[in-house]
Amino acid sequence: MTQKLYNPSQKVIEKAHIKDWNKLNESAQADPEQFWTGMADELHWHKKWDKYIDDTNAPFYKFFVGAQTNITYNCLDVHLTTANRNKIAYIWESEQGETKSVSYFALHREVSKFSNVLKSFGVKKGDRVTIYMGRVMEQVIAMLACARIGAVHSVVYGGFSTEALHERIENSQSKVLITCDGSYQRGKVVELKKIANEAADRSGYVDTIICVQRVKNEVEMVAGRDHWYHKLMEMPIASSKCEAEILDAEDPLFMLYTSGTTGKPKAILHTHGGYMVGTYTSLKYVFDIHDEDRYWCAADPGWITGHSYIVYGPLLNGATSMIYEGAPNFPYPDRWWSIVEKYGINILYTAPTAIRGLMRYGDAWPRRHDLSSLRLLGSVGEPINPEAWRWYYETIGNSECPIMDTWWQTETGMFMITPMPSVPLKPGSGTRPFPGILMDILDDDGNPVANGEEGNLVIKNPWPSMMRTIYGDDERYKTQYWSKYPGYYLTGDSAKRDEDGYYWVIGRVDDVIKVSGYRLGTAEIESALVSHPSVAEAAAIGMPHELKGNAIYTYVILVNGVNPTEELKLELTQHVGKEVGPIAKPQSVEFIDSLPKTRSGKIMRRVLKAKALGEDPGNISTLDD
Ligand code: PRX
Repeated sequence: MTQKLYNPSQKVIEKAHIKDWNKLNESAQADPEQFWTGMADELHWHKKWDKYIDDTNAPFYKFFVGAQTNITYNCLDVHLTTANRNKIAYIWESEQGETKSVSYFALHREVSKFSNVLKSFGVKKGDRVTIYMGRVMEQVIAMLACARIGAVHSVVYGGFSTEALHERIENSQSKVLITCDGSYQRGKVVELKKIANEAADRSGYVDTIICVQRVKNEVEMVAGRDHWYHKLMEMPIASSKCEAEILDAEDPLFMLYTSGTTGKPKAILHTHGGYMVGTYTSLKYVFDIHDEDRYWCAADPGWITGHSYIVYGPLLNGATSMIYEGAPNFPYPDRWWSIVEKYGINILYTAPTAIRGLMRYGDAWPRRHDLSSLRLLGSVGEPINPEAWRWYYETIGNSECPIMDTWWQTETGMFMITPMPSVPLKPGSGTRPFPGILMDILDDDGNPVANGEEGNLVIKNPWPSMMRTIYGDDERYKTQYWSKYPGYYLTGDSAKRDEDGYYWVIGRVDDVIKVSGYRLGTAEIESALVSHPSVAEAAAIGMPHELKGNAIYTYVILVNGVNPTEELKLELTQHVGKEVGPIAKPQSVEFIDSLPKTRSGKIMRRVLKAKALGEDPGNISTLDD
């Protein structure tokens, strides 16, 4: 693991907020409380905290105890009295090339108006609101409007389908659903309202759907239940005066579903106070946000990366962000590079899968564009392979822009292992834990592993932006994250550390599959397959894939008497796409007669995987048959 170090250029170090990472790190590791409260002091609080942490009911930690705030006050209101008032908050470009920009003043106004619209439908503090939209400005506005009035947003990624959306509406008991008529993806319309209708019809909860008109397709609007966003925003109820609800630091901000080891997706709950401090600090230091920067996180607001680093982190820092609606290679493979050039993007944050996807088109596409505005690059979602790292670094960054390979999770709220601009890099390593975060790698008995050995990645101390619980399932929160090593947070990832203290994350050790950086549970794919009338049992595994990182392979036992045809394989693939979403479509469906199981009936996916890879399945003493 000893490798060439890539040292940051002088240009980058000179500009960086933090020049001596080691010094900051040492003091923050020695006294996390001092570090975090110092950062919290840079934000506005309606009332300051009495205590930094309450750990009396661990692992249900509380931070900034007794403080009052509202994250949107710091995202919007504080900027209205500074030079940021007229600064661009977001530049938005559609797949077809239409553009829009919105200043902090205008965003504050739109959010306030929509907050009043939500109030007029009876939405109040603590209510959950589901948001299921494409990558449009209104998605950000809807999230902020919920937060402003103390409602809890639950954003469901616009690539999910009916059953996935339905399940999340049911679990969150959302009465209000905000959606779009459709969204664009590679020139085609994704019919979001149709899926929203199907999901709402399956659910007993939704009594209001607010629909943004984006693609102007023919959609069914149910009288009394469905309303057009633009019509509501023209009505007197949409007054532009709506003060932010003053909330307790621990009041919930949002829930976001993610896939876990077993069963249904779980809703990770984040709060106003701690999450605000974590996202503000991490973005400021890692992507080194300066007033004049144009920053582009090319994720979807519907995932944690978008929540933390398109919506909240950038606004808290008063940044100018780019949002691009469509596919990176539409209409040509240089779409992203043309955006970097056109808007003078300084910081670009994306995922290894996107880098690999663009790399395969060759260097000529990026070379057509002046990418010299770039100063920092970022990567997230899965380990980045050294070949993609080097291409990103050399071809996109002209060997001058350090890559911030940020390791974190929906649960952590913010970057946990990450370089900073001044830290020497090794391709494929996120370097070291963020200041104030104590991590380790343990064997199954809880002993730290030696350098170079693989083990379970854990976090040893609570941090402000950590999840507070799984919504409605405190027990699962405790058992899933805190039971293997009492007092330590279990990440579910395996990792190694090298002799320089650099961390190398290898991947998930549980039944979570990362497909193109998207997190999917084997259980979700399997239950979608089993919901098809021809399927008796199913198993899903992740197999290495050059572009996507992992691809989904499935094994299906058919109901007696059903013919195992090629058509049926295709039908099952489509069925998973329809129930969960196109990202969950298996790459392969294989019909088999039995599945390897333990005596207690658990599917041994590692045996299936070893077989598919042609490897030795290892210890199979617990195999039933
Ligand atoms: O396995 C790790 C991988 O993504 C998981 C978290 O997924 P999710 O909650 O969807 O959040 C993704 C965006 C923050 C982790 O458990 N992962 C994320 N970033 C990296 C990574 N693996 C290696 N390197 C990374 N930089």
